[in-house]
Amino acid sequence: MTTTAITHISALVTNDPSLGDSSPLGLIQDAAVVIEGDRVVWTGESSKAPATDNAVDVGGRAVIPGFVDSHSHLVFAGDRTQEFNARMSGRAYSAGGIRTTVAATRAATDEELSANVARYLAEALRQGTTTFETKSGYGLTVEDEARALRIAARHTDEVTFLGAHIVSPDYADDPAGYVDLVTGPMLDACAPYARWIDVFCEKGAFDGDQARAVLTAGRAKGLHPRVHANQLGHGPGVQLAVELDAASADHCTHLTDADVDALAQSETVATLLPGAEFSTRAAWPDARRLLDAGATVALSTDCNPGSSFTSSVPFCVALAVRDMGMTPDEALWSATAGGAAALRRDDIGRIAPGARADLVVLDAPSHVHLAYRPGVPLVHEVWRRGERVVAPRPS
Ligand code: NIG
Ligand code: FE
Repeated sequence: MTTTAITHISALVTNDPSLGDSSPLGLIQDAAVVIEGDRVVWTGESSKAPATDNAVDVGGRAVIPGFVDSHSHLVFAGDRTQEFNARMSGRAYSAGGIRTTVAATRAATDEELSANVARYLAEALRQGTTTFETKSGYGLTVEDEARALRIAARHTDEVTFLGAHIVSPDYADDPAGYVDLVTGPMLDACAPYARWIDVFCEKGAFDGDQARAVLTAGRAKGLHPRVHANQLGHGPGVQLAVELDAASADHCTHLTDADVDALAQSETVATLLPGAEFSTRAAWPDARRLLDAGATVALSTDCNPGSSFTSSVPFCVALAVRDMGMTPDEALWSATAGGAAALRRDDIGRIAPGARADLVVLDAPSHVHLAYRPGVPLVHEVWRRGERVVAPRPS
């Protein structure tokens, strides 16, 4: 198989402390990476690089692992510009807006939904995202949820069944009946397309008992839990996530000390989604408190038309550094290795021998520029599975 060296890297983030300095980022200055097929086979200092068939000189730019966006809702139609506008004039966010997107999504064709997913994915890839998770949750009938997952599965392996996003408007007077549907026929129709099961455990959506019923039913069908937890207020979501060994508890904006301790003592990743706080003008989650307690933190976009209509991980990194108490190093780790941990993956989120060759060349000498130069398109090129899928802009 052909080998390719990426050379003249000013600073390489490996996320493997054994390869670089002993920090969690495993930084190597003046580095090279060697790729064979879809894998990384060597990383180290340029001067020690082995001979290869091809070489690509990145001209003294920084290289980081491709972003792992472990939380998005991309199977939808329409948008909610008016709702956003109203919020920016003082109206509060509520889970009820989801109904607007449910109506638009049900009315869309498969082709429209698939084209939307492809469009937001291309947008995300251009900004350095090489792996993404996405969910159903805007169909809320057996057929519409199964269709959303079928479409999602054409674009990614990380597919999540979120039939329990809100109680379907068709069951407004019978929430228990809706939980029976989600845990019965809807789950049967959806499980073949999904790896994960999720529930929006929040006032206005599902309470702790309902959330437990959904997650345990999913687990019995081979789906692994993840939970939308503690976004809008305190509640049982985080504790439930930890108790059921969910891969992640997502949002984590309103946490008690007991919630923080539970996360810190578990394998459940706290996934923070600052795009949601930005777009709903809500108080930021406290990443510092989670990190100081020893929790594993991931950063993702939550890309959806209601509460966070951004596909940009660099934007989330900048917010996390400015407003959530993270250092630039921590934010970068959380948006790469943290996302991989939230998906229980060890083949992505790092640039080390054996890992998938997913990497981003930045138009900057260091990853710190992602927060230092917010809003600037710093992604120079993107490699996924060993192929250059985003080429440098002509200069
Ligand atoms: O993660 N919290 C629940 N779901 C989405 C919001 C969906 C919407 O408002 O359409 C979220 O923020
Ligand atoms: Fe979400």
